Amino acid sequence: MNDFKKLTICRPDDWHVHFRDNNILKAVVAFTARQFARAMVMPNLIRPVKTMSDSIAYRQRILEASPKDIKFNPLMVCYLTDDACSNEIIIGYKEKIFAAVKFYPSGATTNSEFGVTDITQVYSLFEKMSQVGMPLLVHGEVMSEDIDIFDREAIFIEKVLVPLVMRFPELKIVLEHVTTKEAVDFVCEQNSNIGATITAHHMIINRSDMFQGGIRPHLFCLPIAKRESHRIALRKAATSGHQSFFLGTDTAPHLKNTKETACGCAGIFSAPTALEMYAQIFEEEKALDQLESFASHNGANFYGLPINKDKITLERSFTKVPEFVAVSKKERIIPFLAGEKLNWKLAGI
Ligand code: NCD
Ligand code: ZN
Repeated sequence: MNDFKKLTICRPDDWHVHFRDNNILKAVVAFTARQFARAMVMPNLIRPVKTMSDSIAYRQRILEASPKDIKFNPLMVCYLTDDACSNEIIIGYKEKIFAAVKFYPSGATTNSEFGVTDITQVYSLFEKMSQVGMPLLVHGEVMSEDIDIFDREAIFIEKVLVPLVMRFPELKIVLEHVTTKEAVDFVCEQNSNIGATITAHHMIINRSDMFQGGIRPHLFCLPIAKRESHRIALRKAATSGHQSFFLGTDTAPHLKNTKETACGCAGIFSAPTALEMYAQIFEEEKALDQLESFASHNGANFYGLPINKDKITLERSFTKVPEFVAVSKKERIIPFLAGEKLNWKLAGI
């Protein structure tokens, strides 16, 4: 029985994570593996994951860095470039090496300079992906200096996504890390081919929080947090039970010194206590009964994958978010809400 002290749900999946590589990968992967059965692993390494062999090698490094006593299945994503090789991508999908393709507009975010400059260049690939049912994961922001950073998602939907969906109605698309009411409304108007991930941090902070008492580099991510009305819309969407919305933390570790600097990196590291944060949000919204569909069912159903058989239990107790995660003697990553107390605790699998 689920009451307010304990919540047992099917083990969830995280449909959007950044693990990086080398020392950072080793420092962060266990946090995700401890909570989630599967993770959709973003391919924006310094050298992007573009080929089947890149992907196989990266997945192997992830598994080597994962705790040995936990079952964890990283699902790999292919980074889409203007010169993408359709054959490689479609074969990679059929062979279950790639679970999806990631579309970054060039320059939109961390390591996106290899991303697509002209989406029409990859239309023939989208045709083939539609035929085989391979999902396209989208970083939904237009990248243009003359467009206000807070408007980039809404304009992307209007200028890029609407035409894309019209042209490829059969293509499965995930609008990643939605941050606006416009995105929520768009997804609600579509059929089940269109999904969206929602991060915990976009449901916790609004744009004013980035400047609370001074500039807060650890709250800077892309898409950037929007005004309060959007945060409320995201909470409503996530807790509504709507099949198209699912959990994707977008946990994006960057070293402390690359965040706390004159030109800091975009990305919020939320992995250590991700589930506890989502549980707290759902409790605040009086929707704990919807947490399982959002965290454990909707994403698996969207991707046509089985729902995980094992269960996890969350207890209404306290968790303290770690102050930092050590990468080496000198290097640290600062988690989202570092040092703060959360009302839930992951009791175990
Ligand atoms: C991500 C990263 O650091 O890789 N950053 C972010 O702010 N979310 C990239 C991304 O998902 O945009
Ligand atoms: Zn991301």
